[in-house]
Amino acid sequence: MVFLMINDMLIGIAANGEYELVYSGKLSKENIINTTPPALLKKIEEFHGENTFDDSWANMLIHGDNLSVLKTIYDDQQNRDRLMTKNRITLIYIDPPFATKKEFKQQNQKAYKDTMTGAAFLEFLRIRLILLKEILADNGSIYLHIDWRFGHYIKIIMDEVFGPENFLNECIWYYSSGGRPETYYARKHAALYFYKKGKKAVFHQHEIGLPWGRQKRNNMKRNVDPDGRVYWSINSGNKEYTYYEDTRLTPDDVWDDISHLQQKDPERGSSGHYPTQKPEKLLERIIRASSGKGDIVLDAFAGSGTTLAVAEKLKRRWIGIDTGEPAIAAIRKRLLSLSTTIGTLKRDTRTDFERVDDFKAHSQSTSRGLFFIYEKVRKGDFILNDEFFIELAHFIDRHLKGDNEETFSLIYPEGKLKVKNLSVRPEADLKAGEKSIAIGRIKFLLSEIRKKQEYTKPHDLYAKTFSIYRAMPADKK
Ligand SMILES: C[S@@+](CC[C@H](N)C(=O)[O-])C[C@H]1O[C@@H](n2cnc3c(N)ncnc32)[C@H](O)[C@@H]1O
Repeated sequence: MVFLMINDMLIGIAANGEYELVYSGKLSKENIINTTPPALLKKIEEFHGENTFDDSWANMLIHGDNLSVLKTIYDDQQNRDRLMTKNRITLIYIDPPFATKKEFKQQNQKAYKDTMTGAAFLEFLRIRLILLKEILADNGSIYLHIDWRFGHYIKIIMDEVFGPENFLNECIWYYSSGGRPETYYARKHAALYFYKKGKKAVFHQHEIGLPWGRQKRNNMKRNVDPDGRVYWSINSGNKEYTYYEDTRLTPDDVWDDISHLQQKDPERGSSGHYPTQKPEKLLERIIRASSGKGDIVLDAFAGSGTTLAVAEKLKRRWIGIDTGEPAIAAIRKRLLSLSTTIGTLKRDTRTDFERVDDFKAHSQSTSRGLFFIYEKVRKGDFILNDEFFIELAHFIDRHLKGDNEETFSLIYPEGKLKVKNLSVRPEADLKAGEKSIAIGRIKFLLSEIRKKQEYTKPHDLYAKTFSIYRAMPADKK
């Protein structure tokens, strides 16, 4: 074996061409599994809402070192599966300390320390990754969130633990907030290493597809089909390729469309301003893509509970673990006042009759805002039919300068869209901002207002069915 020395770690290249990261104190997998003591999980609080699931499952928030808790879950899966996790943890997201050598504060109080570094830090993560892999469902996957300090070493460790053949992506989350140095390039990204456990992993492309977009593409020709749908086409190698504007494409592995939470971002208020809190939109993409409704999502470094909050909103089961008291307090508070909408702070306390699903996203969409909440439509005195849309589109077309395409938002009461001949796309998808009608260059982005009543069932609204556990050393009862 040949060794390369970097910091206090060695990269060993074995004679057979395989390689391995070598450092002092690296334990064998058998050693980790056989000698890690499990914890006793003592329930200290439980909240009962209307259960989203038709079994006895309650989400779990566990206060303790994740190593012993993961071992408890592992042992339980090997035995009676009383925790009901065997082959059901489809997604693991972890955002561990990054070896920043900092102490993080939450409103001037200590939140957590991130002072471990070097080989000790690597081994800290590796032993946890080994257990995480064991408890992951066969069709499951893991995302590990890390930055420039240790990312490359962790990639090698993950190749060792999960197998290089199970590597799927190094997703780059690019954000532009923060200061800029003058002697080197600004460090503005984190990496998410995405691995599957086995041959196939859950990946719901249709849940995360991004609109193909309306921008003009080089050398492409804009066309409108007989239904008024816009598409772009290009000829290459005697073949014509067409792309409909409403086609949904799998996002790239560089994510530059999700911004970092600012110090005063309202989303942070939900956790009492927990440091290193990640945006809900980031977790939304991950959870939608890599888990299904009812699957278990696990975050072993839960922090302010972003993963748990989004999992709850998307009707996944969840398990969150954190060793810090401030984190558990922040999560508890956050879960007890969740909003329905991803990326917003407060639950909806409006007393009026109606609300819009994902109103924020809709109002921030690229479309110009023509919000149409029409009392008469609701009462049935006015009809949103083909004629209405055609007349409105022609009216706008006449008065709007230039010949660019333009999109307008339109909000309408549930069940009141009476269009027969125009094509509404995508037909079955009622998610806000995802239904549209295009007439020539004018496109209407439609949001349905559903009756507030529909949202007031506790399980539709906020996390009320979860238990908080304290992880105790197994010898103390
Ligand atoms: C970077 S933060 C996670 C932030 C989180 N993703 C969010 O959006 O708020 C890392 C968290 O790991 C927790 N932590 C560190 N070591 C741990 C351990 N051994 N077991 C469980 N949690 C741990 C810290 O208390 C801290 O809350």
